[in-house]
Amino acid sequence: MRVTLIVPFILLFILAACGGGGGPVVGDASRGESLYKQATIGTKSAEGCTSCHNQDEAEGPADKAPYTAGTATRAASRVPGMSAEEYIKESILNPNAYVVEGFKEGDMYQTFKDELSEQQIADLVAYLLTEK
Ligand code: HEC
Repeated sequence: MRVTLIVPFILLFILAACGGGGGPVVGDASRGESLYKQATIGTKSAEGCTSCHNQDEAEGPADKAPYTAGTATRAASRVPGMSAEEYIKESILNPNAYVVEGFKEGDMYQTFKDELSEQQIADLVAYLLTEK
């Protein structure tokens, strides 16, 4: 019967159609670190993360943004009920949801949500989770 030949083709087609997409996006910390340190980022070439975020005191003041060092540790307890990962992701996608003391709404770049891919955001989050 022909059907026995057709079935594997249909399965292959379904696999191909779903390939890559479907599953959750997994972040890569080293890719995230490179992204974080780029001079510009995203589809609109926004100023890069490190143009506002200094690594630590040795690199300069935390006057434009909180230090990168310690982000994961602070993120774990910033908002009750939110994991470090959830908080960091929200800080990038929706920065005004929680504004760090000493800063104002709008100080953080506002539209990364529209300008970074899901993969880039996952990579940035994975990197910042290593900054304990
Ligand atoms: C124009 C300056 C600016 C740029 C560019 C910027 N940030 Fe920020 N960021 C801030 C400021 C100011 C805050 C604190 C105010 C707030 O919570 O919105 C902040 C807060 C954060 C926080 C929360 C930190 C904490 O201690 O709670 C994270 C995470 C973060 N930024 C990640 C990023 C990433 C990733 C990028 C690059 C894709 C980036 N930021 C680019 C200014 C900036």
